[in-house]
Amino acid sequence: MILVIGGAGYIGSHYVQYALEQGTEIVVLDSLVYGHREALPASVPLIEGDMGDPALLDNLFQTYPIEAVVHFAAYAYVGESVEDPSKYYNNNFIATVTVLDAMRRHNVNNIVFSSTCASYGNPQYMPMDEKHPQAPINPYGESKFFVEHVLRAYNHAYGLNFVALRYFNAAGADPAGRIGESHNPETHLIPLVLQTALGQRKSINIFGTDYDTPDGTCIRDYIHILDLAQAHSLAINYLTAGGKSDIFNLGNGLGFSVREVIATCQEVSQCPIAITESPRRAGDPPRLIASAEKAHAVLGWKPLYPDLKTIIEHAWAWEVKRPY
Ligand SMILES: NC(=O)c1ccc[n+]([C@@H]2O[C@H](COP(=O)([O-])OP(=O)(O)OC[C@H]3O[C@@H](n4cnc5c(N)ncnc54)[C@H](O)[C@@H]3O)[C@@H](O)[C@H]2O)c1
Repeated sequence: MILVIGGAGYIGSHYVQYALEQGTEIVVLDSLVYGHREALPASVPLIEGDMGDPALLDNLFQTYPIEAVVHFAAYAYVGESVEDPSKYYNNNFIATVTVLDAMRRHNVNNIVFSSTCASYGNPQYMPMDEKHPQAPINPYGESKFFVEHVLRAYNHAYGLNFVALRYFNAAGADPAGRIGESHNPETHLIPLVLQTALGQRKSINIFGTDYDTPDGTCIRDYIHILDLAQAHSLAINYLTAGGKSDIFNLGNGLGFSVREVIATCQEVSQCPIAITESPRRAGDPPRLIASAEKAHAVLGWKPLYPDLKTIIEHAWAWEVKRPY
């Protein structure tokens, strides 16, 4: 059985659904601060609580035959992390150390951890591979960077095995339309554009139209949520087969500009989308594109939905009828 922490969130709930379809047994721990009970099938036990609570963790590890942990839980608003760093260091970093210590107490030795491309900071070359220097520029990115350090030290000292997955931009929804993205507040480009297409927002803001990119807007690497789910499953298989602890980028290796995303959303939704052009935001690099060659080579990961239009079609099918 796998303990999925943060399993009621966007990426976690898609992993849970994917893993159940593979026949994996799951128990979810989520505070529901940002997650949604409706994102989980009724058959999955959901423990509502905080991963920073050692007594709750002890009880969980005693109650369920947990063999590995997949850890998605975090706060993930970059701007808020600058305004309120304590919230981010405590939840994303300190509470994660509490989880790792509980795993040690209960002899659970395999964990897959959600890291982020934000741990790299400003890009020095493109595409970015795992050897790219890490110099995060905000407390959110730092909180993940610190956890990676702790994972290496716990691996060395206590034999706790880990895979840390540095995601680029997660996007899309379950192709069958059962679950999808529902952040509140929403800060991710694709749902914001689609909500504008639906008339729920007046216009979509483009921050910066004078970057050194073909159309002047920022370029990002979007990765389908099911391809992320698949990678977590492969990472668990890799660890249980005795694979050595390691870190992998997860991205498409393809970059799309903000204007390309908006144009594709317009094509898919067949709705007009009003645009507001605003100045650049501090801390937004012009391009962020992953090299995920290592995940392909070592984990055998092959993204099934690299095409931006398909990603947006799935997101749109979810957005027009989403129940939560
Ligand atoms: N969405 C992206 O594009 C992206 C990119 C890079 C990295 N990540 C990382 O992936 C992970 C999942 O992202 P997401 O978009 O699904 O976010 P999300 O907010 O939808 O999911 C996170 C879940 O964790 C839960 N949670 C937070 N703190 C908790 C705690 N202390 N105890 C128990 N549960 C807690 C929340 O209630 C939520 O359900 C995060 O760690 C995030 O930093 C996401």
